[in-house]
Amino acid sequence: MKILVINGVNLNLTGKRERAVYGAETLGEIEAELAAFAEERGHAAEFFCSNLEGELCTAIQNAEGVYDGIVLNAGAYTHYSYAIRDAIASVSVPVVEVHMSNVYAREQFRRTSVLTEVCRGEILGFGKYSYFLALESFWL
Ligand code: DQA
Repeated sequence: MKILVINGVNLNLTGKRERAVYGAETLGEIEAELAAFAEERGHAAEFFCSNLEGELCTAIQNAEGVYDGIVLNAGAYTHYSYAIRDAIASVSVPVVEVHMSNVYAREQFRRTSVLTEVCRGEILGFGKYSYFLALESFWL
């Protein structure tokens, strides 16, 4: 399977921002581990990261017919982006929503996701391992 891992706003700063919440590994380091994890299991993981909502929508649109699944950490867009929600609903590629932190144990606004309803499922709270679990869900 070919899976696209999409990271949204501020996730490019992973490893540098709020380390107590998101860990000390950079996004690049996590992506390299994810690529190896998929490859060792006979699959492929590719990566896209942007701070821009529209670019995230375009990446989701362009995944149609190209990828078997999307792992999506939309960052704070999760909580209010109807544009990303509509992009997910517009494609037949299944999307698994991911969060590194346990969003239910944080501020009230993080408890709302406008994306979950149109996603296949959601994995959160396991740090970088949320991504690994989400990837694995595609080939279970
Ligand atoms: C996050 C949780 C979001 O609430 C936050 O805005 C992020 C990261 C996570 O991975 O835990 O940027 O999606």
